[in-house]
Amino acid sequence: MSVFKQYQNRINGFLQQQLDQYRTEATKLKSSMSYSLLSGGKRIRPLLAYATAESIKCDVSVADNIAAAIEMIHAYSLIHDDLPAMDDDDLRRGQPTNHIKFDEATAILAGDALQSLAFETLSLTPTDPTITVNLVRSLAQYSGLIGMAGGQSLDLIAENRLANLQHLQSIHSAKTGALLTACSSLVIKTLPTISKSHQDLFLQFAYHFGVAFQITDDILDVTQDTATLGKPAHSDTKNNKSTYPSLLGIKRAKLKAKEHIGSAYKALENLPYDTELLESLTDMTLNRDH
Ligand code: IPE
Ligand code: IPE
Ligand code: MG
Ligand code: MG
Ligand code: MG
Repeated sequence: MSVFKQYQNRINGFLQQQLDQYRTEATKLKSSMSYSLLSGGKRIRPLLAYATAESIKCDVSVADNIAAAIEMIHAYSLIHDDLPAMDDDDLRRGQPTNHIKFDEATAILAGDALQSLAFETLSLTPTDPTITVNLVRSLAQYSGLIGMAGGQSLDLIAENRLANLQHLQSIHSAKTGALLTACSSLVIKTLPTISKSHQDLFLQFAYHFGVAFQITDDILDVTQDTATLGKPAHSDTKNNKSTYPSLLGIKRAKLKAKEHIGSAYKALENLPYDTELLESLTDMTLNRDH
C-alpha cells in the first residue's frame, strides 16, 4: 500500500472516531456532518500535514489532530461553497451535495458544527499547551476573515467581472491557499527549534502549492467532465467566476500553475529536511484529473 493510501486510511479512521465519540439526539445533523466529512475526497490537506510532519520528524499523533482539524474546516467550507447562495452546485464527490441530500438549514448547521469540532479537535493536540494555543489561534486566522472565509467573500464579489491577475492571486491564496498553508504551518509550529528562515521556506512552499492547487482546480473545471470531477464541470462558467482560464486561457493558466509548482520545489530544495514525500505530493497536485 502506498504511503499516501496509508495516511488516507489513517485520517479517515481518526475523523470517524472524532465524530463517533458523541451520542446525540441531533441525529440528522450528525448524519449530515458525517456525510460530508467521511465521504471520500482526496485528503490532500491531511496528506500535506503528514508529509510535513515526516520531513521534520514530528510525532504522527500530533499531526493527526492538526490534519483532522484542517480537514473538518475544509469539509465545512465545501458544504457552504455548494449552497444556493454561493456556487449553487448539486454534486460533490460523485454524490448529491449536502443541502440536496438533507436540506439547506441542515447543511448550514453541519458546516457550523464541523467548524466547532475542528477547534475542539485541535485543542486536544497532544503537545505543549502553549503550542496548542498557538495552533488554535493560527487555524482561526487561516480559516476566517483574513483566510478562507475572506477569500470566499472576494471570490463571490469577483463574479460577473474580470479580476486582474494580482487580485485573482490574492483571492486564490486566501480561499484555498490559506488552508493548505495551514497544513504545513501548524505542523512546523510544533517544532520550537526550527529556524525562522526554514519556517519561511515551508510557508513559501505551501503558498505556491496552494495557489497551484486552485489554478489546477479552475483548469479542471473546464477541461474535465462531471463524471471524472465528481462535481459539476463548468461550474465556474455558470457562475461567471474570475478564474485563471477565464483571464489567461487554458494554455497560459497551465504555465502559471507550473510556475508556482516550480517555486514550491525551489523552496523545498533549500530545506535541510527529507522533503521526498512533499515533492511527490506536489507532483500529484499538478498531474491530478479531479
Ligand atoms: C476542492 O478541494 C475545493 C478547492 C479548494 C479547490 P479538493 O479538490 O481538495 O476537494 P476534495 O476534498 O478532494 O473533494
Ligand atoms: C472553493 O473553490 C474554495 C473553498 C474554500 C471551498 P471552488 O468553488 O472552485 O471549489 P469547487 O470547485 O466547488 O470544489
Ligand atoms: Mg467557490
Ligand atoms: Mg465551488
Ligand atoms: Mg472549482
